[in-house]
Amino acid sequence: MKIGVIKETRSGESRVATTPVIAKKLIGKGFTVQVETGAGEAAHFHNDEYLEAGVELVDRQTALSADLILSVRRPLMDDVEMMAEKSVYVSHLENCEDDGTLAKLLTKDITPIAMEHIPRISRAQSMDALSSQSNIAGYRAVIEASARFRRFLPLMMTSAGSAKPARLVVLGVGVAGLQAIATARRLGADVYAYDVRPETREQVESLGAKWIDIDVGESGEGTGGYAKELSDEAKQRQQELLSDELAKAHVIITTALIPCKPAPVLIPNEVVKRMREGSVIIDLAAGNGGNCQLTEADKVVEKHGVILVGHTNYPSMMSTDASNFYAQNLFNLVQIMVEEQEGQLVFRDFEEDEITQAAQVRQA
Ligand SMILES: NC(=O)c1ccc[n+]([C@@H]2O[C@H](COP(=O)([O-])OP(=O)(O)OC[C@H]3O[C@@H](n4cnc5c(N)ncnc54)[C@H](O)[C@@H]3O)[C@@H](O)[C@H]2O)c1
Repeated sequence: MKIGVIKETRSGESRVATTPVIAKKLIGKGFTVQVETGAGEAAHFHNDEYLEAGVELVDRQTALSADLILSVRRPLMDDVEMMAEKSVYVSHLENCEDDGTLAKLLTKDITPIAMEHIPRISRAQSMDALSSQSNIAGYRAVIEASARFRRFLPLMMTSAGSAKPARLVVLGVGVAGLQAIATARRLGADVYAYDVRPETREQVESLGAKWIDIDVGESGEGTGGYAKELSDEAKQRQQELLSDELAKAHVIITTALIPCKPAPVLIPNEVVKRMREGSVIIDLAAGNGGNCQLTEADKVVEKHGVILVGHTNYPSMMSTDASNFYAQNLFNLVQIMVEEQEGQLVFRDFEEDEITQAAQVRQA
């Protein structure tokens, strides 16, 4: 069975779906691995390293004609044209905002497997790319904030005077939010956090951060561990109750998301106006409309003296480790997608395993 790995072409994407280490492991399992020349360069994995691992370096068309294509992002329309019928394409499919490529894949009888649909169950943890990549985003968000903030994050006592620890607020305590809290605590900031799912309070406190205790009058608990959209009244109430806490913050990191919905607005214009000059807002929901009303996707802007960072792809900013983790997630997934029959690797019936069953996309 041939695995094809293409160079990512979506704007700003520096990750790659397999590394030389993982490619070698795949070859050891009996696959032929074909990687598009130069696919790993932006993540510092070079052609000679892939060759040494036993990979065949090929052109894009050849990589796309494999039985199983591994990628980071959804394909371009031209890519789908080059794929073979009945092949399998695995990537983040980002199908909440599909651009027609998904329908095209299905028309060609190509099986799309969406990494964001891997269920959040213990057996699938090692394949959970949303978690591995969100973890990186949470870490990098704090590093970005500290680089933009013109003051210290920790308490700093020196012979030239002392600086108080920065007040850092994390909104949304999923995987990215928890890592942001942990990283900010390691850097010595005074951390406060809030999530619409009350069960996160214990996790926040166990990391040494303080819980922002507000009651919006309804639970934000949705299905599968995800949040659900709040009613308009609750949204309004949430903004009002959070506003004083947010206005006091030096740094805010927002990660609040609801699958396939616009990000909830947690920081309206009036709150930004009340914040201290030089404060920093890192909006990890920038790609979904932003948790701050003034965020501009893929831009860093200054509004009312506050620096608003709207990067939409933090994992790509750490492309080496992000690719290491993502490639390992894919390797683990591929293990359950295939079986050996008469010395040949063949695809299993994806309906027979709850992981592949959940991750397979059947309609656009
Ligand atoms: N294997 C596992 O069991 C496993 C692995 C990873 C994550 N999870 C769980 O999956 C769930 C989703 O995690 P995620 O990181 O993908 O979340 P996500 O990226 O979908 O959302 C980020 C956070 O934003 C919060 N949020 C949404 N609307 C909000 C609002 N109006 N105000 C404040 N916060 C708001 C959500 O509750 C969530 O915690 C969590 O319950 C997480 O613990 C389980």
